[in-house]
Amino acid sequence: MQEQVASLDNLKIPHHLAVIMDGNGRWAQNHGKLRVSGHQEGANAVRRIITESAKMGVKELTLFAFSSENWKRPALEVNALMTLFVKAIRQETLHLLENGICTKIIGDKNRFPLILQKQIAILEDTTKDCNVMRLNIAANYGGRWEILKAAKTLMSLPQERRDNLDEEKFSALFDIPCDVDLLIRTGGEQRISNFLLWQCAYAEIFFSKTLWPDFGKDDLLEAFTFFSGRERRFGMTSEQVRNKGLQ
Ligand code: IPE
Ligand code: IPE
Ligand code: MG
Repeated sequence: MQEQVASLDNLKIPHHLAVIMDGNGRWAQNHGKLRVSGHQEGANAVRRIITESAKMGVKELTLFAFSSENWKRPALEVNALMTLFVKAIRQETLHLLENGICTKIIGDKNRFPLILQKQIAILEDTTKDCNVMRLNIAANYGGRWEILKAAKTLMSLPQERRDNLDEEKFSALFDIPCDVDLLIRTGGEQRISNFLLWQCAYAEIFFSKTLWPDFGKDDLLEAFTFFSGRERRFGMTSEQVRNKGLQ
């Protein structure tokens, strides 16, 4: 027991954790259920991971809920997902407020049903002053869409600001300006699927075989243990990193 506590004490917690929540469909299939049941079960895993991340000291959590490419799925599944989002946001708003979680939906919201857009506005407004953890839910989101959006914003800026552009100033044009420290993808696939392309430049990446609805505290600890064991070099040599005490 003491050993476990000691190792928890040594755990490095990523400042910004991002998660590609994948495997809902396969979870449903494994349980002989319809895909939508996998998404419903996935919503419980979302609640678990938000609570655990905040408790463990993550300061920013970005969850991939629906990609710009997911509109290509059958209409039945897309509609079920929209209904689920409305229900989940309605149910969770108070819980997020009570836990101090400032929540934003990142993505092109214009394509969502009006009722969902309204629910999102209520959620964002209700939690806007919370400061325990930032939660970004990426919905109708694509990394390329976000880069293009920042480029369009840039084009509308005065010439002087455009001339003085650097990486930091360009990052500030993004909805999520903060670099990702640890990216987790569940469900066994090993790809980025157009998620946070700019912000993941130096992210450590943990691929978990666990299907998203089964993802829990132990899986999160496994990912943090992996993260704690990484030497983040940012282009330097190992020796330079050790001398600088950057770990
Ligand atoms: C991720 O699970 C949830 C969304 C993309 C909305 P999937 O639905 O992609 O699950 P699999 O990959 O088919 O198992
Ligand atoms: C990525 O999962 C998007 C989300 C988790 C919301 P997908 O299941 O859509 O990704 P691909 O299509 O397998 O790359
Ligand atoms: Mg998938």
